[in-house]
Amino acid sequence: MNQAAPAPKENMGNPVPRIDARLKVTGQAGYPADLATANVAYGVLATSTIAKGSISALRLERARAVPGVLDIVSVGDMDEVDKPEFGNAGASSIAPLHDKTIFHDGQIIALVVAETFEAAAEAAMLIRADYAQETPSASFDSRGTRIEPAAGKSPMYKENLKAGDFDAAYAAAAVKIDQKYSTPTQHHNPIELFSTTAWWQGDQLTVHEPSQNVTGWKTELARQLKIDPANVRIVSPYIGGAFGSKGPMTARTAIVAVAARRVGRPVRCVVSRMQAYDTQTYRAETRHRIRIGANRDGRITAFGHEGWEVTSRLDPYVVGGTSATSRMYNYGSVLTRVSLVHADRNTPGYMRSPPETPYVYALENAMDEMAVELGMDPVEFRRINEPEKEPIGGKPFSSRSLIKCYDQAAEAFGWSKREAAVGSMRDGDWLVGMGCATAIYPTAAAPCAARVRLTDDGHVRVQSGSHEIGTGVRTVAGQMAAERLGVDIDKVSVEMGDSTLPPAPVSGGSISTASVCSAVLKACDAIREKLFTAAVGEGGPLAGSGNAMLEMEKEAVVTDSGKSARLSDVFNAMQIGALEEYAEFAPKGSSPEALKKLYAGQAEFHGGDQDEDSVKYAYGAELVEVRINSYTREIRVPRIVGAFAAGRIMNTRTARSQLMGGMIWGIGQALHEATEIDRRHARYVNRDLQDYLVPVNADIKQLEVILVPEVDHAVNPAGVKGLGELGNVGTAAAVASAVYHATGRRIRDLPIRIENLIV
Ligand code: MOS
Repeated sequence: MNQAAPAPKENMGNPVPRIDARLKVTGQAGYPADLATANVAYGVLATSTIAKGSISALRLERARAVPGVLDIVSVGDMDEVDKPEFGNAGASSIAPLHDKTIFHDGQIIALVVAETFEAAAEAAMLIRADYAQETPSASFDSRGTRIEPAAGKSPMYKENLKAGDFDAAYAAAAVKIDQKYSTPTQHHNPIELFSTTAWWQGDQLTVHEPSQNVTGWKTELARQLKIDPANVRIVSPYIGGAFGSKGPMTARTAIVAVAARRVGRPVRCVVSRMQAYDTQTYRAETRHRIRIGANRDGRITAFGHEGWEVTSRLDPYVVGGTSATSRMYNYGSVLTRVSLVHADRNTPGYMRSPPETPYVYALENAMDEMAVELGMDPVEFRRINEPEKEPIGGKPFSSRSLIKCYDQAAEAFGWSKREAAVGSMRDGDWLVGMGCATAIYPTAAAPCAARVRLTDDGHVRVQSGSHEIGTGVRTVAGQMAAERLGVDIDKVSVEMGDSTLPPAPVSGGSISTASVCSAVLKACDAIREKLFTAAVGEGGPLAGSGNAMLEMEKEAVVTDSGKSARLSDVFNAMQIGALEEYAEFAPKGSSPEALKKLYAGQAEFHGGDQDEDSVKYAYGAELVEVRINSYTREIRVPRIVGAFAAGRIMNTRTARSQLMGGMIWGIGQALHEATEIDRRHARYVNRDLQDYLVPVNADIKQLEVILVPEVDHAVNPAGVKGLGELGNVGTAAAVASAVYHATGRRIRDLPIRIENLIV
């Protein structure tokens, strides 16, 4: 099974295949809604047909008359429980069924429970509501939106960052650009649909639901239901795509739990893909104004980034990606400002690489425009503006290998063959363009607990309530244990995705590998310590080797002089058959309450721009070739090379896979993805995978990932920088720059489609 290279080279981990790969490809890795549940009843949501107003009457008679209908939970039936909250684990404070107000199109107005899915679906369709309807505000530029400064409205966005005197520096700059960019509404569209299955055994509630945050949900659900969190169990062993969409808990979870209590049996609600557009989170549309001033030699003197984001009426959801863009280059002076635009929409949420994806898209486009203004190669322009320290607080970077990434990507891509003049590269009917962009993602970690058990026959069990969202975290956590305890990965089992396991933070912000591996490392080291002490102690198999350096290899404890003792002999000397250790990891700088908060499901993030000693980011350079048909304007991306540096790479196979998937998604953001909104009704129009475009195999040609070696011990004990979200940051800007290089057309609003290139 393990075809890995014997020794890790240059901080690169073994490319062990995912330990759950066989289960995944043989269909045995069931998603939460696939898990067998005896006597289950089926729930189907009914949703509002207006975006703003209130329900004046709800007519349920025809629905109730459908044979097999057991119950309908609707407005007023949630009075006994508390409203959902926006914030830590909750997606939104919009509380459907608590009051009659409608805040967005597709808001839940009832849950029908029936003996069969078909009966529930039929009944849900027969529910009619009378509304007092008001004109909704759909998005930017709609009448009736409320605009407010984002700073201080959310822990995610505390302040508008500044450095130096932007106005003066920009006014004095020899070369300037001032441009606007935008990104569209996007929906995650995971292949696994959203679902909740809930049942009660006495006062014990069990919920099967795909989740990136089982501990947070346990706490939040218990709060809403006014019960002890100890009585709530969230189970989510395998997930079919999350990307942030399964991070925050939505209002549905408590509604299904209430329904299950009312009918006295398990209730399963699988949300249709169309309904998920409104009842789950998404990435809201963003707008950006970027101003850059530079000297004629290409050194930037002023950088201004203003962002606008759409959110719901009630919740100040903000991504605010100026934290990364304002630390990207050596700017001299910085001005940032982010504003929220409240509209009659469901509350947005995290979507892969928030907030960098939209904000860096704007920055990197502007960087390309500036390079053109300066008549400079765009890679060279980035090189000239490489900072010694980050511009906002003057802190050092814990490590920063961006230029190495550009060097290696440029070499592999053949960037030197790029002809600078716009429209000068051509291959038959195809216009050829080459573009580049920087990828950046903050490196954070959060407190995490893990339990590790080693038995005398060399089997290891790792337990941590993290979540396998497709990144391979199960595998890398297993690798960490295998490596520290000197056993083969085939002898390691890893349990995750259950709130009864030792708590782990939300699997978001690319923190899982660093956080979980650091906790596993700590538990393993406690086991090693006990084994080493026993091995060299009185009666131990290595008695008398007290000063030797000890290691674990091949199910043995070995000394630096080559003496070794089999694991079973060490256990024998201890007169036990297994060692189990529970470890709690808290990142450097954690508050005294950080661990308590971990158990309450509140992840305290450290790293990124938060730490005193340094700023911590992973970087990459992405180079893209596009070809545009000179007659049809069809846009193709035949080639993309990404070079990434992200500290210690636990597993080169899973890392490559994440980065590759990220870049593919980036191509999708550049050319395909957009949720269209009917502005009259504030309604999403293309609510399925037929009309919501994503790249397919035919869209993706040659794609190369280079893992640039990097050692960074400042980030966390595991030395790991997260890379689950790094790959798609910058890709869309690289594509846009390449399109410009091929055609002379600068498309500043995503996605770039054929119609944008037809004159
Ligand atoms: Mo990721 S969007 O932070 O789950």
